[in-house]
Order: sequence, then C-alpha cells, then structure tokens
Amino acid sequence: MKGNLLYEGKAKQVFKVKDNETQLVLSYKNDATAFNGQKKASFTGKGKYNNLISAKVFEYLLEKGINSHYKRALNDTEQLVEKTTIVPIEVVVRNIAAGSITRRLGIAEKTVFASPLVELYYKKDELDDPIINDQHVFILTDATELELKQIKAIALNVNTHLKEFFTGVNLTLVDFKLEFGRDALGNIILSDEISPDTCRLWDKDTGEKMDKDVFREDTGDLLEVYDKILKRLEAVK
Ligand code: C5P
Repeated sequence: MKGNLLYEGKAKQVFKVKDNETQLVLSYKNDATAFNGQKKASFTGKGKYNNLISAKVFEYLLEKGINSHYKRALNDTEQLVEKTTIVPIEVVVRNIAAGSITRRLGIAEKTVFASPLVELYYKKDELDDPIINDQHVFILTDATELELKQIKAIALNVNTHLKEFFTGVNLTLVDFKLEFGRDALGNIILSDEISPDTCRLWDKDTGEKMDKDVFREDTGDLLEVYDKILKRLEAVK
C-alpha cells in the first residue's frame, strides 16, 4: 500500500498510498528535536509511542464528533490518513503557562489561565515559527476569516475533550499544538499528530512532566515517560 516518499519532516515521513490520491501514510520517526531543531536526538521506539498515542487521541476525538485526517493505525509506527493541504499555521492552546509564553511574556510557569488561551504561529522553519495575529494569518496564508474562525473553534473543542481524556489517565493537559489542512473538497480538517511531542502533560498527583519537556529540559528518560502514557491509555476501557 505504501508508495513513494513525498516529504520528510523533523518527526515524520509522509508517503503516497499506491493507486490512491486521497490518502497518505504517516510514518513516525524516532527522532526528537527541540528549539526548532537546534537540539536533536534519536530514541529507538519513540515513533511507536507517538503513532499509537496519536491514534488513540484521534479515535477519542472522533467518538466526540471531531473529525480529523486520521483513518487508522497500520502498524506500530505508521498510520493511514486523509490527504490534506496544510494551512501553514500552528495553533497552540494553553490552559496553564509553561514553555515559550513564560519566557516571552514573563508569566510564571503553572499560572492557570481563566479561560484557554489560543495562539497562532506561522509555520516557517527559517523564521523559527514566529507568533502571529489574525491579520498576519490573512497576509501570510490563503485562509479566510471563516476558516480561521472554524480553526479556533475546533481547537477549543479539542481542548475541552482532551482535558477530559487526559484527566481520565490522571494527567493535566497544560497546552498543545494543532495543525489544520484542507481536504479534497476544501474543508478545514484537523491534521498532523497529537502526542506527548505536541502536548504538555503533567501527572495530577506528582506534577511530573510527562511529555517532550523531559527531552527539552534533560530531566529524565523520554521513552520511559512515553511508555507510561501509552500504558495508562491502554488501561482505559
Ligand atoms: O514551546 P511552546 O511553549 O510555545 O509550546 C506550546 C505547546 O505546543 C507545547 O505543548 C509544545 O509541545 C507544542 N509545540 C509543538 N510544535 C511546535 C511548537 C510547539 O508541538 N513547533
């Protein structure tokens, strides 16, 4: 089923599907990068965790009525997805302050926001993915006002459901990043991955960071932490 390699990113490879123009195979790599690729390492087995965790997240969201490009996991490291054309913005939703917002705005880590904060970043490696506002989106991309409104509404809806999903496995959803694409009909559709690489997750009892910050901040064994998350999700009926 897997055809030629179409594109290789920092964390995934994208392959064509033979004799099918509407689907793609995403292959999760073992590579970890942080600070826009300045810090790099490879962890044997990481691809499996992100593939299987992301699959569980997209399956849960579908149960809650949120469609995405995800179709099904093909094996430990690959999933079949609907082909979309990515809108070059990254949408970050923050429930609690951590990471770049603490450095950029001097907000103390762990500050809880009264309502979820939605931020937009321009997806452009050469520029280090700068933060942008709505007007920048219209200048830099072909997204319309209606599409941006849909994107933000989906992002907040995903937040509502994922907070509950992760609470079920004793994790606090601190923040996360989403990407969106357009399907063959031009509809906006949730794309990319949702995994501990793209979310901050803190253990509710201990406060332990159980996400890519373990790698960013060199505080422990990334694979051990990702394994714990997958095991917790697998234990949920
Ligand atoms: O680095 P920052 O604090 O802005 O990240 C916010 C959230 O978005 C974190 O969960 C981080 O893992 C995710 N993110 C991502 N990809 C990026 C930037 C941020 O998955 N390029």
